[in-house]
Amino acid sequence: MHKQCFVTGGSGFIGQHLVASLTRNGHPVTLLLRSPAALPALRGQVDRLGGNGQLLGAVTGDLGKPGLGLDAAAREQVRQAAVVFHLGAQFAWGLSVAQARQVNVEGALAVAELAASQASRLLLAGGFMLANHEHLRRLGIDLQAPSRTDWATVYRRIGAYEGSKLEAHFKVLARMSELNAELTVVHPATVCGHSRSGHILPAQPLAGLIGNLAGGLLGAIPGSPAHWLPLVSVDFLAELLRVAAFDQEQAGQEILALDARTPNLHGMLQQLAQTLGVSAPSRHLPIPLLRWLLKIPGLPRLLRTEPESLDFIQTTRFDTAATQALAQRHQLLWPDIAQALQATARYLVNEQLSRD
Ligand SMILES: NC(=O)c1ccc[n+]([C@@H]2O[C@H](COP(=O)([O-])OP(=O)(O)OC[C@H]3O[C@@H](n4cnc5c(N)ncnc54)[C@H](OP(=O)(O)O)[C@@H]3O)[C@@H](O)[C@H]2O)c1
Repeated sequence: MHKQCFVTGGSGFIGQHLVASLTRNGHPVTLLLRSPAALPALRGQVDRLGGNGQLLGAVTGDLGKPGLGLDAAAREQVRQAAVVFHLGAQFAWGLSVAQARQVNVEGALAVAELAASQASRLLLAGGFMLANHEHLRRLGIDLQAPSRTDWATVYRRIGAYEGSKLEAHFKVLARMSELNAELTVVHPATVCGHSRSGHILPAQPLAGLIGNLAGGLLGAIPGSPAHWLPLVSVDFLAELLRVAAFDQEQAGQEILALDARTPNLHGMLQQLAQTLGVSAPSRHLPIPLLRWLLKIPGLPRLLRTEPESLDFIQTTRFDTAATQALAQRHQLLWPDIAQALQATARYLVNEQLSRD
């Protein structure tokens, strides 16, 4: 059955692919857009990504405004949504805490309250670091009673973007439980381009890493041979978000969208370098040393690397058995992550060539 959906962040990278997947499957979608003038272009993009742009509508709103900036007509338009997908976020390094909190924490709470008030399921995009409890404890998050966490310390340790994502997660969980409302959380790993076309947006962290490798700015491999940057391809993630949202068994669940076959960072850089026709770094540089080096004024800009991005490179391995079972139940096939990486690198090279 086709179900009405409301999507925040639908103009973003994951959002575009999610909306393509939803509309391809016949679900009408209303987007929350800061600039509704973007709707016609988005319809075209969703068509190009294999969806049906005709099933797209939009309301004007802003996650950073009280009540999401929705007027009464817009509230009415989204009232029928069976699922509210919350993907919208200020996603960047170097944000101020106030800016990140206003959109990523207060905005997420406002979306949660909207979903609860109209009995829609909320599908929240978290992040894979939320599945690494050891890491959360090290940051000072009280997992037994998250409300006792000193968030200012967490923001200082991890940066405003990731701090706000962690705070939003625990606050939305608590709010939805108080309101007795239905929530499913999907925690994506770092998102790789489309497994066949390689489509990715240039502001994505992986596109930045590939750009640095192509430009010869990556002189060493961050971390040890055990370090990796867990990935998920955007097309698989979009399908997973869609099936999780309509699966009754996933109400109240947290799902890790991470491809456990992602190679370690060394292997990943070698594969990418081969596709790009450049040489891959072979020496390792310990993360604490790199973090220290990045304190040197001007170096982050020179190396086009922000210290906040290093937190996603780690040694922890994750249990993805529940995700495998969910994918199997819905007959979702995991694309080959090595091929997805190659397609992403080729896509970025072609984009660069067409810009030049
Ligand atoms: N990409 C990853 O590697 C990754 C990994 C883990 C988790 N995630 C999470 O997945 C979600 C989507 O990520 P993404 O990569 O698709 O991000 P993205 O490409 O940066 O897109 C962000 C989206 O949020 C919207 N947005 C930002 N500020 C807004 C505001 N004040 N009001 C309304 N909308 C606003 C943007 O709209 P405009 O078009 O108006 O700017 C855009 O649609 C985020 O929650 C992110 O934290 C991403």
